[in-house]
Amino acid sequence: MNTLLNIALPKGRLGERVYAMLAEAGFPCPSVLEDGRRLTFENEEAGVRYFWAKPSDVPIYVERGVADAGVAGKDILEEYTPDVYELLDLGVGKCRMAVAAKRDFIDRPERTLRVATKFPNIAGRYYAGRGRNIDVIRLSGSIELAPVLGLSDVIVDIVETGATLRENGLTVIDEILPLSARLIVNKSAFRFKNEPIRTLSARLGARIREREEQA
Ligand code: PRP
Repeated sequence: MNTLLNIALPKGRLGERVYAMLAEAGFPCPSVLEDGRRLTFENEEAGVRYFWAKPSDVPIYVERGVADAGVAGKDILEEYTPDVYELLDLGVGKCRMAVAAKRDFIDRPERTLRVATKFPNIAGRYYAGRGRNIDVIRLSGSIELAPVLGLSDVIVDIVETGATLRENGLTVIDEILPLSARLIVNKSAFRFKNEPIRTLSARLGARIREREEQA
């Protein structure tokens, strides 16, 4: 019987950071960091199998149960609202979802607002809560370009350092929500692999508290 915990990690810098936390928490699998094109790695002794997935796909693997657990940004969880448990705020990958516009932007509430974003559901909910009509322009990246070129009035996007906004003459006009990486878990795995999942979550939680105390 397969008793390994299957964990989907978001490919990239955030995933590598979270893997380091998992290794410190007692779930190492050194081959994860090898150069190469392999996507799955396991360490039977530590009881884990890791996958590198595209960050926005992690909740799909977890929701469908091929991964028991995974790491996803709160932005992705809010946008796709997967049917999973969110167990832990990992305290890394901190940034915020914000509305931004050109510095000289003047809002005319009687007009439909053109909103460029990669997050149409988050943007839709935010403006619905304000009773505002919007025209969502769905883009896949470099969202900041839209207001600069006049494609949109505002953007709803992730702001980390603020450098991209600054260097393109844009400014935050409202903050929607703080973001960070979360540990998510498949609902049935939480029942059937409860003990290893709780151990993983507790040890990771302890590591996070230690790091916060050191900071
Ligand atoms: C993200 C986000 C912003 C930028 C914010 O883009 O969409 O564009 O980072 O970071 P900053 O506040 O530190 O400048 P990403 O680099 O992921 O690429 P994308 O433009 O393709 O979405």
